Amino acid sequence: MITFDIVTIFPKIFKEYFNTSILGRARENGLIEIKVHDLRDFTEDKHNTVDDRPFGGGPGMVLKVGPIFKALKTIEKKEESHKVLLTPKGKQFNQKKANKLSKKKRITLIAGRYEAFDARVNQFVNEKISIGPYVLTGGELPAMIIVDAVCRLIPNVIEKESLKEETYSLNNKESKKKIEYPQYTRPEVFKYKDAKGNMHEMKVPKILLSGNHKKIKEWKEKNAH
Ligand SMILES: C[S@@+](CC[C@H](N)C(=O)[O-])C[C@H]1O[C@@H](n2cnc3c(N)ncnc32)[C@H](O)[C@@H]1O
Repeated sequence: MITFDIVTIFPKIFKEYFNTSILGRARENGLIEIKVHDLRDFTEDKHNTVDDRPFGGGPGMVLKVGPIFKALKTIEKKEESHKVLLTPKGKQFNQKKANKLSKKKRITLIAGRYEAFDARVNQFVNEKISIGPYVLTGGELPAMIIVDAVCRLIPNVIEKESLKEETYSLNNKESKKKIEYPQYTRPEVFKYKDAKGNMHEMKVPKILLSGNHKKIKEWKEKNAH
């Protein structure tokens, strides 16, 4: 069981995704818990202000340290949480990090918006994570991506067998970058007409239809790069 707390100013964004398919089932079965917190609930003025202009000038608005501090304190009232600030300045997320996070009991993800976080927020988090070398409008998608990648690794969320041979599979020590072998399903022959009206046929590799498990295993190993 793992608990995620997400701090955001757009809490409605998450509902549909987290209630769908594997994540939805995992929540229903009590394997994961996801709590979404509206940062505005931790403000202390009547306008629920979460941002302000940057000292020293510059474009955009900065998320205030106070509401974030209060949100973290409230979340950690009963037990400590591993606190992650989502920022393009952070260390890049990958499968290894997903695996490490999946061992935590509780993770708090802080999704930013606007120009930046007040730099003092850095003092209250355990690490900063970026999901890639590009800038998004907010930290909500990064939070969803991290929750998704981590939840798949929680026991019983996905069949153990499915995780074993996956791309970036952690059981696969020979190569950090191994990509899953190509997979096919019916039909055995796919026929299509191209833009010029010429017919084409694409066949499933014969070996996969042979029933020879030893040869199939060899083929899969050879074709996983
Ligand atoms: C528009 S961005 C701010 C970008 C900031 N001005 C900079 O140059 O680093 C607003 C928020 O989106 C989130 N965000 C954007 N890109 C991200 C990324 N690649 N990884 C993680 N979070 C990201 C962060 O929470 C960030 O505070």
